[in-house]
Amino acid sequence: MKPSTKIILPSALALGFLLTACDNDKFAEELRVVKDNVSFALDIQPILSGQCAGCHNPANVNPDLRKGFAYSSLTEDEEGIIPGDSEGSELMEMLEWNSADGNNMPPATPISPLQIGLIKKWIDEGAQNN
Ligand code: HEC
Repeated sequence: MKPSTKIILPSALALGFLLTACDNDKFAEELRVVKDNVSFALDIQPILSGQCAGCHNPANVNPDLRKGFAYSSLTEDEEGIIPGDSEGSELMEMLEWNSADGNNMPPATPISPLQIGLIKKWIDEGAQNN
């Protein structure tokens, strides 16, 4: 009993330490990504292309969220995005699955909290075509 305890206990502690360290790194990384200077081209368009453009294209449903079209589609609709005001932007309600008229997007499952955070930050930073 004694020899195995000597091995198992330190291993468990080491594993616990490693897991904690990884968690902290991941958390720090997510915070860093959401923090400042979100880029429409580098951060937002990939989310729209991956999660939205499969439905949001000319063959299917408006607005067109494909690369090269999404920025103007989103900003032409004055209600959807209010630059600098994510709280007042209807798009955020939809993404947070909180839409008053039931238009939650994407319809099947919400995108990740990190992706929602990036879009929110991008709107708060002025919804620029950057
Ligand atoms: C499975 C298909 C599908 C996916 C994926 C999807 N949508 Fe939609 N979306 C729709 C449909 C269908 C409508 C029209 C709903 C209606 O008018 O009732 C719509 C409507 C919208 C509208 C217009 C709402 C309005 O008030 O007119 C916006 C903005 C929108 N979606 C954004 C998004 C975003 C952003 C994503 C990705 C995060 C996304 N959608 C993903 C199918 C989808």
